[in-house]
Amino acid sequence: MSVVDEEVSAFVENMTSTYNQKMTTAVRENFTDDYFDSLGGPEAVMKKQFPAQAWREFYNGTLPPARQMTQVYELGEPYGRDRDIIVGLGKQLSDEVKHARILANLSEELGTSCDLATWEGENYDKFVSKCRTTTEWDEPHHIAAGLQCSTEIIAARTLERIGEYVEDDYPDITASLRDIAADEGDHIHVGRLIMKRFASPDELDTLDEIAERKYDAAVSVLESL
Ligand SMILES: [Fe+2]
Ligand SMILES: [Fe+2]
Repeated sequence: MSVVDEEVSAFVENMTSTYNQKMTTAVRENFTDDYFDSLGGPEAVMKKQFPAQAWREFYNGTLPPARQMTQVYELGEPYGRDRDIIVGLGKQLSDEVKHARILANLSEELGTSCDLATWEGENYDKFVSKCRTTTEWDEPHHIAAGLQCSTEIIAARTLERIGEYVEDDYPDITASLRDIAADEGDHIHVGRLIMKRFASPDELDTLDEIAERKYDAAVSVLESL
């Protein structure tokens, strides 16, 4: 590995572990037992969170990687060197559609309708603006800096936290939520590959700014849930 590659690689590893920590802390601080109790307990928490989480899995989980796929197609070597990225993004797209479907089905089972083509929660504008903050970049590593390598872990941590809260009453739902969370490591992995292959050392400050902006948007959504 060249010195330049090593610098980018160390930056990516540091960003991923820093944001893993920050997102875990943000979820634990906002989704306390007391807060969930104040919403009305396990069933009420799931009815409130599942449709919103289904929307976020679908839109945050498909628009950015779909865009990254076409960007890698334009900028990289989709049939050669970058096949691992194309395959990884394809898996992410399919995982996120599955995650959204599982959460939408759970929501319907609890009696809250969840048609993702029409659903709009009370914070819909915030959801859209956070999704835009992730998606509207012209280069695949810029998207990765705001999503897979920074804030994406929030989805897994949120589902784990809800699963932990409802486990005594709904152990099967907790198992489904943990299955969803288990896929997230693969998405972070493809983001790392993208950043290491496409980022250059002179844009590391920009990538930091993108991640920080996205972190602020993610925390603002979390505080409104
Ligand atoms: Fe997901
Ligand atoms: Fe994901």
